[in-house]
Amino acid sequence: MIKAVVILAAGQGTRMKSPLAKVLHPLLGRPVIVHVLESLGALTADRTFVVVGHQRRRVEPLLTAFGAQAIVQEPQLGTGHAVMSCLDALTALGDAEVLLASADVPLLPVESLGRFWERFSAGSSKAALVSVTLQDPTGYGRLVRDGAGKLARVVEERDATEAERAVSEVNAGVYFFRSPEVFRWLKGLGRQNAQGEYYLTDLFAALYAAGNPADVFSAGEPERWLGANTQAELAQATARLRRDVVERWMAAGVTVMDPATTWIETSVRMEPGVVLHPGVRLCGTTGLGAGVEVRSYSVLTDTAVGPGTLIKEHCVLEMTRVGADCIIGPFARTREGTVLEERVHLGNFVETKKAVLGKGAKANHLSYLGDASVGGGSNIGAGTITCNYDGKLKHRTVLGEGVFIGSDTQLVAPVSVGDGAYVGAGTTVTRDVPAGALAVSRAPQKNVEGWVERKRKRGEASKAPSGS
Ligand code: UD1
Ligand code: CA
Repeated sequence: MIKAVVILAAGQGTRMKSPLAKVLHPLLGRPVIVHVLESLGALTADRTFVVVGHQRRRVEPLLTAFGAQAIVQEPQLGTGHAVMSCLDALTALGDAEVLLASADVPLLPVESLGRFWERFSAGSSKAALVSVTLQDPTGYGRLVRDGAGKLARVVEERDATEAERAVSEVNAGVYFFRSPEVFRWLKGLGRQNAQGEYYLTDLFAALYAAGNPADVFSAGEPERWLGANTQAELAQATARLRRDVVERWMAAGVTVMDPATTWIETSVRMEPGVVLHPGVRLCGTTGLGAGVEVRSYSVLTDTAVGPGTLIKEHCVLEMTRVGADCIIGPFARTREGTVLEERVHLGNFVETKKAVLGKGAKANHLSYLGDASVGGGSNIGAGTITCNYDGKLKHRTVLGEGVFIGSDTQLVAPVSVGDGAYVGAGTTVTRDVPAGALAVSRAPQKNVEGWVERKRKRGEASKAPSGS
């Protein structure tokens, strides 16, 4: 039997009150729909379809990595209409079991989904839905059961009577159905309701009337099935996932000094023995080796850090490779293409971009190193700037091993400094410096003796006496 997944992602999400489509909002660094695709991907269905519409040009590129196929729903006339848009694609599969989910339920527990799907496969019902019981069911479709406990229908909040609104068992928005068997009921859906939409949920009353009531799978952990329909719900889902991820890393041997303020995105990797101070943020594909310590308010994005490295407070590292036993910051900024080999020291207010610093190199204060390579053991003095941009093109600065660059040096690229060479403080290097040489470019210093005293006297003489 073919297994297919259908994800509904065409709606605008008016309750978000945002120019961005609901499913594109970021949740712990990734769009909501990506979380759903990933959870459902673990079920290894034969085919995955995503119904797209609103801002589909931005939704569609997210599907490729998951091998999912977009189906366009235009205009968007409700969840029932969204599923009708898939009928051709589903019919082409022949007999299939279909799991259908909203793209705005980002924390779906995949283990329970797998169990429910097995249960559905083993049974003979034409459809099933997942229910959860909420303390506050506001906004959700309520389950109406008959005297025998069968699912008679699902009623939306806006169409419900007061008594129905009091029901706390709600539709989680995850369904199973047998295709093409349920199509004749799907095709019969109308739009006579408060929102004038084709409600997928009306399917259940039709199935009941035809003597095929759907199964209800009651799920625990209601927070995992909540929709992210509003900014507040999105923030709640983010908080929940953030906490889960932090707890997983603590269980794996990472020291998190303040779990409440630590942000670790889902694709981050760490070795046991990592220490994270309060307020640390680890994003994207960042990876930290054993014993790495990251201090407060540092943000690392897509950055790999070797074992034993210390990243002090307020550093911003992006697309950088840091070797073992380095000391970075506080207040260092490394940008894309930075490679720091082992034991490199990068101090406060140092910015790097496409810069490779060899073993044990140091740049401890106030520097910009862009499009540069710095040989091992070199020392970059305070205030050193690589002038890498001529207004049109970028040029490289190449420093050999064991080079000493005095403070306040400008290296006007393209330029190189050979192994072991010295550059005197305040030099503007415009020509290559050979290995072992000293380069200095400085106007000779002149001391004007007694100048301050003479200036003071001139000042007094020119001051007019104040009249009145
Ligand atoms: C829906 C259910 C409700 C359930 C809740 C669970 C209906 C009518 N109601 O309500 O019973 O309790 O989910 O989370 O189904 N979509 C489309 N095309 C459209 C309209 C919506 O693809 O024309 C997509 C949306 O992008 C969204 C999903 O369908 O991902 C659900 O739509 P939404 O408006 O969020 O439904 P709810 O009001 O939450
Ligand atoms: Ca929803």
